[in-house]
Amino acid sequence: MSATVTLTETAPPAPAPVCVGQPDIQYHPDEAKFRARTARRLAEDPTLPQRPLPEGFPAQTGGPIVWEGKDWTDESQWVYNLSDDQLAEIDRALAHFESLDKPLGFINRETFPLPTLSAELWKLAEVLYSGRGFFVLREIPIDKYSRRELAIVYAGLSSHVGSGRGKQDGTGAVLAHIKDLRVSHAHEKGGIGNAAYTTDKQVFHTDIGDLIALLGIQTSAHGGVSRLSSSGRVYNEIAKTRPDLITVLKDNWPLDRFGGDPPYAERPVLYNEDGHIVIQYSRRHFTGFGTQLRSANIPPISEAQAEALDMLHFYAEKFSLGLNFKKGDIQYINSMGLLHARDAFIDEGVHTRHLVRLWLRNDELAWKTPKPLEKTWRTLYSNPPEDQRFPLEPEIRRMAGGATK
Ligand SMILES: [Fe+2]
Repeated sequence: MSATVTLTETAPPAPAPVCVGQPDIQYHPDEAKFRARTARRLAEDPTLPQRPLPEGFPAQTGGPIVWEGKDWTDESQWVYNLSDDQLAEIDRALAHFESLDKPLGFINRETFPLPTLSAELWKLAEVLYSGRGFFVLREIPIDKYSRRELAIVYAGLSSHVGSGRGKQDGTGAVLAHIKDLRVSHAHEKGGIGNAAYTTDKQVFHTDIGDLIALLGIQTSAHGGVSRLSSSGRVYNEIAKTRPDLITVLKDNWPLDRFGGDPPYAERPVLYNEDGHIVIQYSRRHFTGFGTQLRSANIPPISEAQAEALDMLHFYAEKFSLGLNFKKGDIQYINSMGLLHARDAFIDEGVHTRHLVRLWLRNDELAWKTPKPLEKTWRTLYSNPPEDQRFPLEPEIRRMAGGATK
């Protein structure tokens, strides 16, 4: 009897189109490939390390935000412990906001008043912009609040650090949930193209915007260490050893917009703005991640860019500081001056890692935004209270057209 072909049988999927000319580089940095690429490029042109730095870029940068992980010895150096009195003040602010009966977008310094804690949070905001660039607030009693109350407390406290609250997506969401969503959101069209929604390692990158806040609602069973690294420290190393790559980093790069219109954007990865070294990039925009491969209809990155991208990562890793999240911690970081990453992790039972992110800005303390980033920053922070959405449960960020990002 001959084999029958059922009507439900489908043809094998067509191979995904590739970005022609793209260097052999993936989302997960491969040190052997990096070393081989460097050796190849230096063999082709041994004068690369002797090239001058681009005009206006310093031989070395300094200040409190230029540090190495080994400079920090104890978490008491960056953890601010909230006292019982301060926690009581937070509860009174929560009750006050609730009494106003306003939508959550109206949470601000006035509607969430903190008579004594506000000045402390301002000093900590100064640490973000003029000091080491990060701190941890410990700890919010997560379990005593409903999810809605927690959102009010989190956004309320954070408004005293930076009153500008950025949009996380095209739908006005100001809260983003960082959690493994591969099972709960397996139906998502286009799949998951961002390591933030998996248990996978997230390589060094920056978010867009000035400040990032991450509230730990729950921690994982194993792994998931959060890593920070000073962009200035990484800059100094590259400027000293490979000034030619500083030129590469400050020139335009083709960022994949993953189906956006236009399909790619061009801007530098590195800026020297008003005395501040700023690195602003996400590796997946140059390599793709997971099911989101680099788009086929856009230019590839160059071999020099591939080398620079790996060098950023490996120096950031070398000079990084690892921070463990505790349930109830809020980690605040300056994303203009620090790179961040996350180790892979394992969830078990109730120990399911769940962070909630805000993007903030303190207009009075902020660094000058580099010109090529101004439009993005304007869009990010043009977010009137009535348009702000506070998703209380995890969802995947969407662009205005509905595509995932
Ligand atoms: Fe991030």
